[in-house]
Amino acid sequence: MICLCDSKNQFVHSLFFIFNTSFFSMNKTINGFYKLTKEQKIDWLAQHFYQNTEGRDLGFLQSFQHPDAEFQRIFDGFSENTIANFPMPYGIAPNFLINNKVYAVPMVIEESSVVAAASSGAKYWSERGGFHAEVLGTVKVGQVHFTWSGEGDILRGCFEETKKVLIAESEHITANMTQRGGGILGIELIDFTDQEADYYQLRCTFETCDSMGANFINSVLEQFGQTLEWFLAEKTGIEPVVVMCILSNFTPNCLVRAWVECDIEDFHHEEAAFYAEKFRRAVRIARIDPYRAVTHNKGIMNGIDAVVLATANDFRAIEACAHAFAARDGQYRSLSDCTIENGRFKFWIDMPLALGTVGGLTSLHPLARLSLDILGKPSAAELMQVVAVVGLAQNFAAVRSLVTTGIQKGHMKMHLTNILNHLAATEGEATAAQQYFDNKTVSFTAVRTFLDSVRT
Ligand code: MEV
Repeated sequence: MICLCDSKNQFVHSLFFIFNTSFFSMNKTINGFYKLTKEQKIDWLAQHFYQNTEGRDLGFLQSFQHPDAEFQRIFDGFSENTIANFPMPYGIAPNFLINNKVYAVPMVIEESSVVAAASSGAKYWSERGGFHAEVLGTVKVGQVHFTWSGEGDILRGCFEETKKVLIAESEHITANMTQRGGGILGIELIDFTDQEADYYQLRCTFETCDSMGANFINSVLEQFGQTLEWFLAEKTGIEPVVVMCILSNFTPNCLVRAWVECDIEDFHHEEAAFYAEKFRRAVRIARIDPYRAVTHNKGIMNGIDAVVLATANDFRAIEACAHAFAARDGQYRSLSDCTIENGRFKFWIDMPLALGTVGGLTSLHPLARLSLDILGKPSAAELMQVVAVVGLAQNFAAVRSLVTTGIQKGHMKMHLTNILNHLAATEGEATAAQQYFDNKTVSFTAVRTFLDSVRT
């Protein structure tokens, strides 16, 4: 060890410091945490990582356990190392008229105003013909990435035969899905050797019916990988190396379009044309400028994620795909678009949505099951339409607020409830605060000052 200390004392002190800090931080690591019971996990956490500054020990986690042990067992089974449940508000946005059918839409979201805005957008359009939606495609994608050191022409020359063998060898996995009307749609060989030596890809497409299909696709792909290795070795004498087999969450052809349209005069506003044009321009700005586009799309995802979560679909997959899709022409743009032509206002969204209504957590999570029941047990295609519509309604409500009153007025009213809860306001104090702030600006400090004055 090289010592830069100028005295023996300092050297000893440094050694002590190094030992001490590594001893204590080592002391915070643990092997086999997953083997502890839930209670032991909480105790360990309390000892090593929890400062009981608010006079509250971790015993309060107990109140977040589900009182029904069977439900709790199901929740714990979703993940690992669970110590409690993390509640999120489960709300309903009513009055969604979609393709002439009325839906009440379950939403799971922690941000105030989102459900209120979706509901207001839904009501507004239910009086103007409702929403329209159409599924444009349901194609899912998966990839086998592999290297092969032979001549590309040899690979291409035997690809039709390779494809047949890949399909035949995976029949034990695809049989059920094929019976349900789905299965493998296509397998394409893509040559990337100009960018990475020997790198090829099987880009495969699938129809997975009402399931999101991740397990099905990954199982088929892994089988493809194994088959590819022995078949090409036998056929060409050169064995490929499979790098990885995995679905792609970029599903631009699993696409739904949702739209609303009406004559400008149907807005029933004396300055309808002015506001409609302002609205169109706001959407146009989000198509031109990525800084605005990200916020605009975040507003859309407020609605989309909330329904995706309420139906226990994979919101990370939906998010990842949405943003890649928003940048598909090389620039990140708004997912929605708007035109005004001959006095007619049209506002629409094209959304890639790889959703499922069977399998995964959709039937395991009791509230996801309830959400699907409330939605009338939709097929995956119908759910795609509902989710895209909620995204559009959310976007409509946000942009309408932005180009008229601004969002803070409504937002802070809802936020007031959160602040009051945070400051432990009683029911009486909350009612007084709501009256007081009816025509005033809400801020954390203003609410605290108000409560202090009421309390003294
Ligand atoms: C806030 O969660 C979402 C908005 O910022 C969206 C938008 O600006 O369009 C209001």
